[in-house]
Amino acid sequence: MLEEKASAGETMNDRVFYVTTPIYYPSDKLHIGHAYTTVAADCMARYKRMRGYDVFFLTGSDEHGQKIERKAAEKGMDPQSYVDKIVASFQQLWERLLITNNDFIRTTEPRHEKAVQALFQKLYEQGDIYKSYYEGLYCTPCEAFWLERQLVDGNCPDCGRPVEHVKEESYFFRLSKYQDRLLQYIEENPSFIQPASRRNEMINFIKSGLEDLCVSRTSFKWGVPVPFAPEHVVYVWFDALVNYLSALGWQDGDQRFDHYWPHAVHLMAKDIVRFHSVIWPIILMAAGLPLPRTIFGHGWLLLEGGKISKSKGNVVDPMILIDRYGVDAVRYYLLRELPYGGDSYYSEEDLINRINTDLANDLGNLISRTLGMIKKYQGGVLAAPGPAESPDDDLINCAREVKVELEQQLERMDFSSALAAIWKLVRRANRYVDETTPWVLARDPEQKERLKTVLYNLSEAVRILTIWCSPFMPVFPERVFSQFGIANQPELHSWDSTEDWGRMPVNLRIEPGPGIFPRIMLESEAEVKSGKEEEKATEKKAVKGSKEKAPAEKPQITIDEFARLDLRVAVVKSAEKIKGADRLLKLEVELGEETRTIVAGIAQHYTPESLVGKSVVIVANLAPVKLRGVTSYGMILAASEGNDLGVLTVDREVPPGSRVK
Ligand code: ME8
Ligand code: MG
Repeated sequence: MLEEKASAGETMNDRVFYVTTPIYYPSDKLHIGHAYTTVAADCMARYKRMRGYDVFFLTGSDEHGQKIERKAAEKGMDPQSYVDKIVASFQQLWERLLITNNDFIRTTEPRHEKAVQALFQKLYEQGDIYKSYYEGLYCTPCEAFWLERQLVDGNCPDCGRPVEHVKEESYFFRLSKYQDRLLQYIEENPSFIQPASRRNEMINFIKSGLEDLCVSRTSFKWGVPVPFAPEHVVYVWFDALVNYLSALGWQDGDQRFDHYWPHAVHLMAKDIVRFHSVIWPIILMAAGLPLPRTIFGHGWLLLEGGKISKSKGNVVDPMILIDRYGVDAVRYYLLRELPYGGDSYYSEEDLINRINTDLANDLGNLISRTLGMIKKYQGGVLAAPGPAESPDDDLINCAREVKVELEQQLERMDFSSALAAIWKLVRRANRYVDETTPWVLARDPEQKERLKTVLYNLSEAVRILTIWCSPFMPVFPERVFSQFGIANQPELHSWDSTEDWGRMPVNLRIEPGPGIFPRIMLESEAEVKSGKEEEKATEKKAVKGSKEKAPAEKPQITIDEFARLDLRVAVVKSAEKIKGADRLLKLEVELGEETRTIVAGIAQHYTPESLVGKSVVIVANLAPVKLRGVTSYGMILAASEGNDLGVLTVDREVPPGSRVK
């Protein structure tokens, strides 16, 4: 476990948390692998802040080295302009993902370069850095030195790419001198390297013997000059690791250094655990500085065919996914999908499934059912609960148990299990609705009190779940709080307020809004809506069955069932194509007072211009769905047969918003 739980004697000062991500190479745009680590760190930072910790959360960019110098040259740019542009895209991505980092460190900043030089100088003066010659192999994409015997099929053992032969004058750092001290430290501090599998790998690696490390290069220029030998630049990993100190103002006598540094938790994927748990602690030991508390190495997001990688070019752009599915959904998917310490394959289909199942069906539905029933059965006012009965106690106990489990899983940074724990209560609450059948209670005046209790408990479950979800998904909670009328009561959004059941205030007016997590409809499903798919099914049936081409039959309905459809006349105000979807048009339609967005699968039959000004008929009370990142609030009626399609319209002018029946 990362932290001992706050005990009675603990001082406020122990509730400090310093969390870092790797500083990513600006060799290219970032992909969802990088987004994973940063979202995980953000989730942790948000959680710890909610628990009252003093948090410092750092991310940044690793801008020096041969890889970047070459990349810039390929583009015909000077390295600084090249990295400036890419680093700006990092920062935009973190803003879009609502990352709450307290600082962003760039290794080309003077505050950082100064710290690197000071540390290098210190280690040189005390004899831990010495001059020699390096002759060996180098993997530029990994910025790593290798020995012949470490190669796999002649290639880099980490990334499988070819290595280069390097022969140059270099400074060396005495890693070997500290080998035994490091091994002893790791063995005595079982929580230093996590998960345990990574720790065992590192112990074996160190036991196989450490060689002194080459820590300067002379064959290129893009780096921090060695202060006493400026024809050398500092090895990029020595340079990069120091960011964790320089960002806290280590060289400036900044008190943040003493305050935060001993609580450092470094997050990364397994590819760079070796640099962090061998080179980094030895640099710190040599410099007489405390070691970070934890090195945590999570697994990889993979694509069919291997690891997602900037240099392999098989990237998945998180910006596109955020545009399509929203920040909460992307964050949820990443944190839910990657198992503790293990790898997982990325696919957009899995992402959509997670959204539709966990978010729309389970959580979204619970929220909208609860609000809808309070509105329908109690005029939109949440009433005080009556005495608890058996399913009530069971629901409340479930919440209590989930809280304990959730906190444990978050402390060990098992995000996936933490979300799985939260979803135990989501499912329990949905089951509670089925068990208590509020719609039956609502018909019986004698059950009025019972109904109040049920709706109160559901509202409290939603409030608690929303708070627990907020470190993972920071957008939707505000909407839930405002729909329940508690937006201005921050004390009811706090982690502590989930400790005891029953903090939800009564007699507030709820304001149901549009669904919190719309279902994602696939483009193929949109065709069903426009009648295409159904018509295909009919054709198939016709071939198989009778010779006659019978229309698809549906069971008879009553007039009441028909009346559940809210059909309206709407005037198309504007229409446009949706990028990347050849069948879809995005329409803005006016219905009386209101304008709304509707996505229609009719782009192959109508140009956008030809629809503007038309009075069409829409289903106005259809649950919203998201298509290609656009939420559709309704459906346009159209008739189709074969390749012909026509939208329904009215044959004389009626005001927009008129009911169709
Ligand atoms: O290594 N799955 O930078 P980098 C999960 N500059 N996480 C992934 C991932 C994937 N497929 N791909 C990348 C560097 N990551 C150095 C770090 S720190 C002092 C210097 C994440 O741009 C993961 O955190 O290659 C991984 O460790 C990191 O990005 C590597 O980023
Ligand atoms: Mg890398």
